[in-house]
Amino acid sequence: MFNAERFVNEQIAELKAQIKDKAIIACSGGVDSTVAAVMASRAVGDRLLTIYVNTGFMRKGETEAVREMFDGLGVNYKMVDASEEFFAAMKGVTDPERKRKIIGERFIRVFEREAKEFGAEYLVQGTIAPDWIESGDGVRDVIKSHHNVGGLPKDMNMQLVEPLRDLYKDEVRIVARYLDVEVSERQPFPGPALAIRVIGEATREAVDIVREACAIVEEEIELASAAGKMTRPWQYFAVLLPCKSVGVQGDIRAYGRTIAVRSVESIDGMSAAYSRIPHEVLERISVRITNEMKSDVNRVVYDITNKPPSTIEWE
Ligand code: XMP
Repeated sequence: MFNAERFVNEQIAELKAQIKDKAIIACSGGVDSTVAAVMASRAVGDRLLTIYVNTGFMRKGETEAVREMFDGLGVNYKMVDASEEFFAAMKGVTDPERKRKIIGERFIRVFEREAKEFGAEYLVQGTIAPDWIESGDGVRDVIKSHHNVGGLPKDMNMQLVEPLRDLYKDEVRIVARYLDVEVSERQPFPGPALAIRVIGEATREAVDIVREACAIVEEEIELASAAGKMTRPWQYFAVLLPCKSVGVQGDIRAYGRTIAVRSVESIDGMSAAYSRIPHEVLERISVRITNEMKSDVNRVVYDITNKPPSTIEWE
């Protein structure tokens, strides 16, 4: 049986021993990185600088919510707006593995700059077991190079510290509840963020579309779950597809984009089953997306594949 108190005490002692000087941690506000930031901050106090990088790929309202959470946690933090350089790096890139690697490398470059300014030699990351298992380890096949594993440049000049490396998501949540971290029940969100929810090139325009659609999916599923119409799924979001299809608006022909809604049940993200969302909820999502985003989207589809054979994200 996993014991959160023992895990936290052991890891804090280890972090104290490992981090001999100053460190930075990249924290997206997700469960994994927030738990890692709280533990590292308890271990070394203000010798740790928590950095939130706004890549431009964040969800609606996310940056503001993370700032509020950091204020509440009392960690030493800095918000960095790097959206210009992330969008520039995505220009013309369509291959999912390249997107992840480029994003991983950009993150590290931003951290290196910030680490230099702060005088840090250590980089703490909230990497968990499925991240490196799926990224391949010489024995296993690469399924996807999670941005914080396969994306790390070989010439990185900081020492990596990964206190959650052996944990699975459900265990991280147990630790989060033990530490009283408010995001303990949040759905997982990938580090490359909305960039991998736009199939193909992640332009500003495409990211804006998927951001709006993701917000509608989240809102409607959370409302329906709170009203007892369904249980809240493990993960739920929208994906912008790279194809257009014919529709009709009023009595005029339209040629618009397609949004895929994805929602899954899982325990650790390693396998997943698509959620049996009530049709009435799916319909509300579809009607809202096609009404509120009518100049961009005229078709909404629901993904009914399990993992395996597919994966949770589309890229
Ligand atoms: P997949 O798509 O591999 O996703 O079935 C399993 C879980 O991992 C998340 N995911 C990522 N998380 N960096 C991350 O930090 C990534 O590159 C990445 N890719 C997928 C995904 O959202 C799901 O929860």
